[in-house]
Amino acid sequence: MENPVIVAIDGPSGTGKSSTSRAVAAKLGLNYLDTGAQYRAITWWMLSNGIDVNDPVAVADAAGKPVIVAGHDPAAPGITVDGTDASGPIRTQEVTAAVSAVSAVPEVRARMVELQRAAADTSPAGIVVEGRDIGTTVFPNATVKIFLTASAEARAARRSGELNGAQSVADTRAALIKRDAADSGRKTSPLAKAADAVEVDTTDLTLDQVIECIVTLVEEKRATR
Ligand code: DC
Repeated sequence: MENPVIVAIDGPSGTGKSSTSRAVAAKLGLNYLDTGAQYRAITWWMLSNGIDVNDPVAVADAAGKPVIVAGHDPAAPGITVDGTDASGPIRTQEVTAAVSAVSAVPEVRARMVELQRAAADTSPAGIVVEGRDIGTTVFPNATVKIFLTASAEARAARRSGELNGAQSVADTRAALIKRDAADSGRKTSPLAKAADAVEVDTTDLTLDQVIECIVTLVEEKRATR
């Protein structure tokens, strides 16, 4: 039997990672995993349980406690924490502001990586996994590795649009740049392009063009395996 296909899609926020990854998974009949949602879910649990997210020792001590289950259906992924649907709460600005600190803690990362590898093990056809360190750390042998980029202006405009203008483009841009710096500068598994990843600059591409480009790459790779 063919080995399952693993498509790693990394990059900073606002590059269209989620929409792209879900569409690629749906088109190729693969499972989907949003690892950012997992880091958001554990952050939401920490905030809800009064853990000081800026205290790495407290965060490390609590890292093993919540039970986080991410859905794999690209049409409706969803995520639960201790059996409660957390899909909405993990997208609040409070969680967004705290997630980089929580995800920098090695014990948190070790736990999430375990869940991520288990997700691939239970995906017989394969899985599209989006995040920051998927091609570098989680699946260094992924079938295809993509690194999505876009200008800060394009990314801020997209994110502000997703928030329905609740945050101005200028404020969104500043918050994005701050989070990118934290995610790229941390010691454990920083946001980084794998040496063998294909970089796709989405600034001037439509979503459909990006999806098509990745689907073609995966199909070419599949044909030559
Ligand atoms: O993709 P996102 O914006 O939902 O991710 C939220 C945060 O989670 C992001 O700021 C950094 C962290 N993250 C990470 O450290 N490693 C990953 N593989 C995915 C996300």
